[in-house]
Amino acid sequence: MKRLLTLIAALGLVAGMAQAQGKLEIFSWWAGDEGPALEALIKLYNQQYPGVDVINATVTGGSGVNARAVLKTRMLGGDPPDSFQVHAGQELIGDWVAANRMEDLTSLFQQQGWLDAFPQNLIDLISTPDGIWSVPVNIHRANVLWYVPADLEKWGVTAPASWEEFLVQCPKLQAQGVTPLVVAENWTQVQLWETIAISTLGPQGWNDLWTGKVAFTDPKAVQAWDTFGKVMQCANSDASGLTWQQATDRVVSGQAAYNVMGDWAAGYMTTTLKLTPGTDFGWEATPGTQGVFDMLADSFGLPKGAQDRQNTLNWLELIGSKQGQDTFNPLKGSISPRLDSDLSLYNAYSQSAAKDWQADTIVGSLAHGAAAKTAFLNQFADVIGIYFSSGSSEQAANAAQAIALQTGLYQ
Ligand code: GAL
Repeated sequence: MKRLLTLIAALGLVAGMAQAQGKLEIFSWWAGDEGPALEALIKLYNQQYPGVDVINATVTGGSGVNARAVLKTRMLGGDPPDSFQVHAGQELIGDWVAANRMEDLTSLFQQQGWLDAFPQNLIDLISTPDGIWSVPVNIHRANVLWYVPADLEKWGVTAPASWEEFLVQCPKLQAQGVTPLVVAENWTQVQLWETIAISTLGPQGWNDLWTGKVAFTDPKAVQAWDTFGKVMQCANSDASGLTWQQATDRVVSGQAAYNVMGDWAAGYMTTTLKLTPGTDFGWEATPGTQGVFDMLADSFGLPKGAQDRQNTLNWLELIGSKQGQDTFNPLKGSISPRLDSDLSLYNAYSQSAAKDWQADTIVGSLAHGAAAKTAFLNQFADVIGIYFSSGSSEQAANAAQAIALQTGLYQ
């Protein structure tokens, strides 16, 4: 009898899948080179729900700088996509949940057994006392230093353990016609600053920045600007015109020694450029952040007023599933936060990231929406400009403190 009921339930499910109709609009910034992992998920969805027309709506631009602006216009204009990419943490909670724009997904989490499948620290990042607000699809690491091992050997250097060590290597690399560090457009500079600040403040000090326990004008936070300035003197002068992929390309082609980038760079190098981790490219935690995992997670939610609600719930169910996550993440360079993820499907880089995720001290990324809401991040992007035009660490630190208060960072 039990078997018969299971069979009937399974047939019902299959019929439901086949019957699903209409459309589903997924909104993200995973366009072009960033697309393959999302496209693989959509393919899986199409197989399960062949009657649904999936619209893969993307707005190009690393870290979502352009997509977030378009999303805001649509959300405020009453035209939400069915589901959209949003970073776990303050970008989700401080922006969209605070504005009461998301549906609570607690019952989906209960139905799918996700309260046990995902680690508690991640569930905390997507929850408030009133609900659970999105489905995380991955864990990315922001504090990674990338290089080509054979090139470092040729140039007589090894990956620096501290920024001081990097600054000693800098003239040596320059003398050989090599750019010591390749940096790209503004948001990648915010990310570089972030990794330097984690090294000067330590993980606890970094966490305390976001509660106000440590001020942006604290001597250690000011010191982060001093180091940032020195490090940027060892960088390419055309940074603002480069995408993160173009920066990665310069390391791969041997024009530059190092790049600081999140591990989507591993996805790009393996999935798009077909390189082998460990031999074609190497990695370390960014200088001074050994034992710290600067994390971010992409997630998708269900905005209130979504036109294709049931299709969206099916989408969320798929992307939170083991199959969905182990399809997406090996292509993306990220790991699955699911505790039952099958690591044999992942390459050497991701396996090492998964190990560090378990062992390291976890902190949340500023540049990728975990630590602060978007209003703060947008204005912090201008603080980078203030630093370069004034050349003053104190002025940059004061500006950061002022926007923390102005944007209600500590509320
Ligand atoms: C991050 C996002 C990653 C990757 C990266 C570069 O914000 O979480 O998945 O897309 O931007 O665009």
